[in-house]
Amino acid sequence: MIDIHCHILPEVDDGPKSWDVSQQMCRMAVADGIEHIVATPHANERYGYDREYLVGALEHLRQLVGSTPKLSLGCDFHFSYDNLQDVLLRPERYTIEGSRYLLVELSNYGIPVQINACFTKLGDKGITPVITHPERNPILQQAPQRVLQWVEQGCVVQVTASALTGSWGERVWRAAKWLLERDAVHVLASDAHDLEHRTPMLSAGRAAAEEFCSPQVAHALVDDNPRAIVSGQPLPYFPNPVSKS
Ligand SMILES: [Fe+2]
Repeated sequence: MIDIHCHILPEVDDGPKSWDVSQQMCRMAVADGIEHIVATPHANERYGYDREYLVGALEHLRQLVGSTPKLSLGCDFHFSYDNLQDVLLRPERYTIEGSRYLLVELSNYGIPVQINACFTKLGDKGITPVITHPERNPILQQAPQRVLQWVEQGCVVQVTASALTGSWGERVWRAAKWLLERDAVHVLASDAHDLEHRTPMLSAGRAAAEEFCSPQVAHALVDDNPRAIVSGQPLPYFPNPVSKS
C-alpha cells in the first residue's frame, strides 16, 4: 500500500515531535503493509512551508529508516488566495514529488465562490487537485454533491482511512460512505500525525471500505491509484460518479 498524505516529518507542523517518533511511525506503517509514504507537511497560515528545508529533512529521515518505507515529499496544501497564487507560479514547490498531483485542503469555515474556476485554472496548468478529506469538512457534509461535481471536473478525492472505521464519529463516517457508494472516492490515506490517535495505517480502512465496494476497488484506493499518483500517471480507477439520492 502507498500512503499519499502523512505528517511524518518532525517539528515542522503538528505532526511528530521528534525524529524518534518519526522513525517509529515509519515502522508502524511498514508493519501495516505500507511500502511508500508521501510526507505532507502543512502549508497554511499557522505553518510555513519551506520546500528546501523539507527536502533536507526528508533526506535525513531516509538515512535513519533505510530503504523501507520509500519516502517522497508532498504538501498538505491549504487552499488560500496566497497559496493558490504561489502554486500557479511554482507548482513543483507543492506537488507530490515527481508528479503534478496537488493535495488540496478546503477550509472548514468557507469555500470560495470561485472554487470551480480555481480548479480549472490548476487543471490548465497541468495540476490535478487531490481534495483531501471532504468527509471531515462540515460545509461539504451538508453539500456533498459539490464533491461529485469536482470529480466530474477532473479532481481526485482522498478520504481518511480512519473515517471509514468510525474513528471520527458517525457524521464523518456517513459522509465517507456517501461518497464511496457514489464511486467518488479515489484514494484512502492516513493523514497520520502520531503513534496514538492519528496513526500511519491503511489496512483497517481498506477492510472497512470493502463493506461498501468491491475488494478490487478497495485495493485501488490504497494501492493502484496512489501508486499512479506517486508515479505521475493517470489513475487506473477513476469512474464517473454515480448520481443517486
Ligand atoms: Fe493532513
